[in-house]
Amino acid sequence: MKLLVTGATGKLGALIVETLLATVPARHLAVSVRSPEKAESLRSRGVDVREGDFDRPETLDRAFEGIDRLLIVSTDGDNETRIRQHGVAVAAAQRANVGFIAYTSLVNAGENPIFLAPVHRATEEAIRRSGIPYAFLRNNWYLENETGTVQAVLGGAPWLTSAGAGKVGWATRRDYAEAAAAVLAGESRESAAYELSGSLLTQEELAAKLSGILGREVPVQQVDDATYAGIMSSAGVPDPVVPILVGIQSAIREGALEVESGDLERLLGRAPTPIEEGLRQIVEELQS
Ligand SMILES: NC(=O)c1ccc[n+]([C@@H]2O[C@H](COP(=O)([O-])OP(=O)(O)OC[C@H]3O[C@@H](n4cnc5c(N)ncnc54)[C@H](OP(=O)(O)O)[C@@H]3O)[C@@H](O)[C@H]2O)c1
Repeated sequence: MKLLVTGATGKLGALIVETLLATVPARHLAVSVRSPEKAESLRSRGVDVREGDFDRPETLDRAFEGIDRLLIVSTDGDNETRIRQHGVAVAAAQRANVGFIAYTSLVNAGENPIFLAPVHRATEEAIRRSGIPYAFLRNNWYLENETGTVQAVLGGAPWLTSAGAGKVGWATRRDYAEAAAAVLAGESRESAAYELSGSLLTQEELAAKLSGILGREVPVQQVDDATYAGIMSSAGVPDPVVPILVGIQSAIREGALEVESGDLERLLGRAPTPIEEGLRQIVEELQS
């Protein structure tokens, strides 16, 4: 049985491989990466490092050869690029007769109104059409996405948001990685979609947890989208990124990430890492 993880030199992929190496013999493990030289430490541990670039389909034929269970980590970039890249990866998996595909998707991908969702809908559809059994790992929000806001708070700013009372099922990137590793290393070939959420919290509730860690009040400043955009611009956020951040805030306000589910806990076989612990780690990293 040979498992392969794409994006293994990315943040999530690296954590997935690290988790797998604790339970799966390295000889059963392969990674597909754009820059094999960045995965030298994995090769030295016995992992089969293969070159695979979703922009160069020919690399994927060799990358996916002989693979039983494949985990496609979603790429970054704009929607159109990602839809094309993921489609290329799924087609290569079909050509290679891969037996099972896991894919890092987004909570409630089928109906989620957030602007990122079309990528995940299109990719899930391509995987369904391939006829290969699958697991859709529909991740909610990484707690680490809030690092910039935490940093601003550490610098004396309030917790700035235009997300209103919208709730988010934040969980740590490491928890999502461990859940993905559990699915990939499992034996199930039954197709399933997992909604992977932590406990639902509002911005105020998250800020209150940060306040508990810092031992001081963290005021929350709720603003409208235009004000949020203006503050982001004046804080130096590049122009093309500002509408992305605003789009995320407005989607959260509309409940796009308000997905309650016990799937994360079930896949982990334990409760998700407490948000306080994840926040403490973010604070420590920012202060180190
Ligand atoms: N739910 C959430 O809150 C959330 C938050 C952030 C990200 N995400 C999604 O989860 C994914 C993983 O997150 P992350 O934190 O690990 O992000 P990341 O570190 O930016 O990882 C992105 C990975 O995609 C790979 N990639 C990009 N273009 C590729 C291509 N043409 N062919 C093959 N691989 C390609 C990158 O390869 P290199 O290592 O060569 O650069 C990298 O490994 C992201 O890409 C994004 O789709 C979700």
